[in-house]
Amino acid sequence: MRIEELATPCYVIDEAKLKENLRILKGVQEETGCKILLAQKAFSCYATYPLIRQYLAGTTASGLYEARLGHEEMGGETHVFAPAYRPEDMKELTAICDHIIFNSISQLNKYRQMCRGVSVGLRINPECSTQEGHAIYDPCAPGSRLGVTRANFDPACLDIIDGLHFHTLCEQDADDLKRTLDAVEEKFGDCLQKVSWLNMGGGHHITRPGYDIELLKSCIRRMQDTYGVTVYLEPGEAVALNAGLLVTEVMDVVENGIQTLVLDASAACHMPDVLEMPYRPPLMDSGLPGEKAYTYRLSSCTCLAGDIIGDYSFDREIRPGDRLYFMDMAIYSMVKNNTFNGMPLPSIAIMREGGECEVIKTFGYEDFKCRL
Ligand SMILES: Cc1ncc(COP(=O)(O)O)c(C=O)c1O
Repeated sequence: MRIEELATPCYVIDEAKLKENLRILKGVQEETGCKILLAQKAFSCYATYPLIRQYLAGTTASGLYEARLGHEEMGGETHVFAPAYRPEDMKELTAICDHIIFNSISQLNKYRQMCRGVSVGLRINPECSTQEGHAIYDPCAPGSRLGVTRANFDPACLDIIDGLHFHTLCEQDADDLKRTLDAVEEKFGDCLQKVSWLNMGGGHHITRPGYDIELLKSCIRRMQDTYGVTVYLEPGEAVALNAGLLVTEVMDVVENGIQTLVLDASAACHMPDVLEMPYRPPLMDSGLPGEKAYTYRLSSCTCLAGDIIGDYSFDREIRPGDRLYFMDMAIYSMVKNNTFNGMPLPSIAIMREGGECEVIKTFGYEDFKCRL
């Protein structure tokens, strides 16, 4: 089926672009000896896991369900990090994960006896904020619950743990990683001598055009050479960056001083980061408001007045029945979507390299009902 024939709304994963990203990530692994894991919180479309497994070392998870998914569907290494674990989950986690990372010394002490045969790590907080204006995504913001600060770090735990983990970046380049490593070394350099691995988290926008891959490689080598550690990276976004579309149809045009297109896709339900982050998602064949002849506000059929995707302009008049294609919709979209207002979940299709689309998931009333 061609993309124009898909029933809307539908997420479409672009296999060619996914492979292009994976080739870049594999290149970093091969040239440095580091290991790269898929952070499933960004992208968990497991139909693509057999492909991803050909390039990456495994998965990381935010808890039991993602860990199970990675273990069952991808294999390779299975890592997990959560701010706290439930006792009833730990038994299964220790059976399926090879790396378990704790967020505090109290969690480490609570579960250390259960972790025999598992490589255990501790998340540290280097207290080095490198992002401006995005406190919601900054684990180094003052008072953050994420990671042990040096003041709270007990060096005795180095007898128990095998590795250190930090995650401080969000859509950032390697210069911010370099600054972060300076802080990690300054605060935890003595500890790095005593562990066998260092996980540098996600937020590395490695597959974005212009990202400084050479600097990333030199950062990785620096830690490997100085401390003899195995370096892990666990990007989510970089794996499926620009590798997905959300195809939607215009259902109505409402005129009230502004021309609003009512779509069968919703920011609140199908691309929640648009409201949460917030940001204006890229849309194929469109411009900024006023840039092209016809400007519209793009919205949806939920009841939320603020369910507005953004203002866009087009070369032609847009009418009900027209299709619009939101870009970069593989990441943090289907993992976060919901059925608020009883909105149907978009189906999921994979666009093969020749452009042929295969629908792999459709959803209906039962998917709405079964969660309530
Ligand atoms: C611990 C951890 N690892 C990895 C990631 C993936 O980050 P990204 O998708 O920005 O690469 C996140 C994102 O929040 C995270 O919290």
